Amino acid sequence: MSESTTIRWEQDETGVVTLILDDPNQSANTMNQAFKDSIAAIADRAEAEKDSIRGIVFTSAKKTFFAGGDLKDMIRLRPEHAQIAFDTGTEIKRSLRRIETLGKPVVAAVNGAALGGGYEIALACHHRIALDAPGSKIGLPEVTLGLLPAGGGVTRTVRLMGIADALLKVLLQGTQYTPQRALDNGLVHELAATPEEMLAKARAFIDANPESKQPWDVPGYKIPGGTPSNPRFAANLPAFPANLKKQLNGAPYPAPRNILACAVEGSQVDFETALTIEARYFTELVTGQTAKNMIQAFFFDLQAVNAGRSRPQGIEPRQVRKVAVLGAGMMGAGIAYSCARAGIEVVLKDVTAEAAAKGKAYSEKLLDKALSRGRTTEAKRAELLARITPTADAADLAGCDAVIEAVFEDTSLKHKVFQEIQDVIEPDALLCSNTSTLPITGLAEGVSRPVDFIGLHFFSPVDKMPLVEIIKGERTGDEAIARAFDLVRQINKTPIVVNDSRGFFTSRVIGQFINEGVAMIGEGVEPASIEQAAAQAGYPAKVLSLMDELTLTLPRKIRNETRKAFEAQGKAWAEHPADAVIDRMVDEFGRPGRSGGAGFYEYDEAGKRARIWPGLREHFAKPGYEIPFEDMKERMLFSEALDTVRCLDEGVLTSIADANIGSIMGIGFPAWTGGVIQYINGYEGGLPGFVARARELADAYGERFTPPASLIAKAERGETYAD
Ligand code: NAI
Repeated sequence: MSESTTIRWEQDETGVVTLILDDPNQSANTMNQAFKDSIAAIADRAEAEKDSIRGIVFTSAKKTFFAGGDLKDMIRLRPEHAQIAFDTGTEIKRSLRRIETLGKPVVAAVNGAALGGGYEIALACHHRIALDAPGSKIGLPEVTLGLLPAGGGVTRTVRLMGIADALLKVLLQGTQYTPQRALDNGLVHELAATPEEMLAKARAFIDANPESKQPWDVPGYKIPGGTPSNPRFAANLPAFPANLKKQLNGAPYPAPRNILACAVEGSQVDFETALTIEARYFTELVTGQTAKNMIQAFFFDLQAVNAGRSRPQGIEPRQVRKVAVLGAGMMGAGIAYSCARAGIEVVLKDVTAEAAAKGKAYSEKLLDKALSRGRTTEAKRAELLARITPTADAADLAGCDAVIEAVFEDTSLKHKVFQEIQDVIEPDALLCSNTSTLPITGLAEGVSRPVDFIGLHFFSPVDKMPLVEIIKGERTGDEAIARAFDLVRQINKTPIVVNDSRGFFTSRVIGQFINEGVAMIGEGVEPASIEQAAAQAGYPAKVLSLMDELTLTLPRKIRNETRKAFEAQGKAWAEHPADAVIDRMVDEFGRPGRSGGAGFYEYDEAGKRARIWPGLREHFAKPGYEIPFEDMKERMLFSEALDTVRCLDEGVLTSIADANIGSIMGIGFPAWTGGVIQYINGYEGGLPGFVARARELADAYGERFTPPASLIAKAERGETYAD
């Protein structure tokens, strides 16, 4: 045993040293202060006892190999801590480098997840063997938290696979690979089926390669694919995924830009200098606001998922065995797939057997794609498909302990389909509707057990979108909320829980963003500038193209229904300047959006989006009319933030974490902000700064930007939003 506290040194009689990562104070190993000290002590000892050592194997005693940097430490680093951030990373890297260049073979026996810092330790080893354990993930996801891998991750992946592959496969998307895919993509050298096999393979490598070195430490080594002679090579890197281009398109995401610069600059200097460049770019990111926001959002997600924050207390967890999905259209088909993927039996019902079968065929399509990319096997594909039973016969729903309804958006139809099945399913089955706009309380009137009735709002495409918004009706019971929460977790999605209201939280707030973009058309702003403003604000979808996808007739329908409801309640109704634009688009120009073949954009015969419709300029734009670009971006961001405050005031939202996580995961609020309420908290000048800016926008663009009284009061009290 050595004096080190988080790494155990075990040496056998043949001279093989196994370094067992095992932090006694935490359930997972992280790059904390104790690790920094331990790895330095290990490097000292290895150098001192070099002559008795034949090789080194890194492995871990935890379920995961190594979890990476300690985010709780990182989130506290401010610009004045730049030197500390720089030094800590540098010391760990120096220790790993000493072990890497000791002159002995070094092997990583990766026994579980190795993400971020964990994979960086493995990269410092000459040979990487991964245990093919289910659920195990390998990669460098730092970019998704606004950071870059600064434990040598950029420097070594660039030298391992070349600049383009390192950027595209590992660094810029932060892809988390299964062991098999990590092998296919060159992140590890071999797999092992059991821990014993893994350690045997590690020994075999040491026996066969007593003189082993990293490729980059062999004289004459060249980076695969070559290096750019000047940094502008970065701009010409081939084949960037479309969403990254969008991120780099002026949107305030510093991490991808820093990673790009770091990879390119680091490829042109020696290894040690590259490590220093990496530390500089990392320090800039970790002390900045964006990484803090993104790390905070990550914690909100963990809270929502692990702590079950919004789940009523004291109710036994339950698992769904067999679910009825009513309606096999776009949403129903996606919901059926997500449930079957989680191991739940699915009965997929539509009006005709053909329609139901078509819904099941959607799962086949997704699985065929996954199969062709090596993400699933024939056997798993067959197993999943066997779980989905398409039908037009209500009798097949016998034994279902949950129902998710996804038929057309029509209250009386929804009432009817629940009535048809309520005597066939289990007597206490959970009753869910995937409505996107109809109040849950009203829908619950059509079932015999409103206490078990709840909204389960999925997002399209269901298989990809991580969020589900759970909506409580007036009569929904706590038991139903807990069961809905458990079901969402069972299918591996993130739940937020909100109270009933028109459009709930997500549809209502995204509506503000869209309305703001459309209103600018009415004012005469150049359409391309509006799209560009959305992209530069960091939205994943441009505003006019999003409106086209959703169809222009939808907001009209919602507007008319909401107005009727307001008038019935005697509440004041204010027109939005977007309304007139939408009316003209639909009534005068016959352009209802993509599904109608024409909208703000033109579409080709296959329905593919072409250019912005030139008629927009002709009929709306005022040549020479300009508003500041910053105003355009902030009108979009503020419209959503202010309506979120109103959702809190009205009790639609009951938690700040739900607002933040729901806004990023559900409706594309820019991730760099850390979420819609974090955007207000983090605005320049804090809440008073936000209020002052909202007032400016209200003076210039309309009363809808007037800050709510609750926000003003909070700002005056010097508070920020917190749960
Ligand atoms: P869709 O039009 O693609 O599918 C509706 C399906 O319901 C059709 O296959 C239809 O044959 C079936 N259906 C109609 N009457 C039926 C009955 N009596 N029994 C069984 N099936 C019946 O519609 P989509 O887009 O899948 O929407 C379904 C629901 O999901 C709607 O309430 C919608 O508001 C909601 N939603 C839609 C989202 C979207 O992005 N499209 C997002 C979230 C919710």
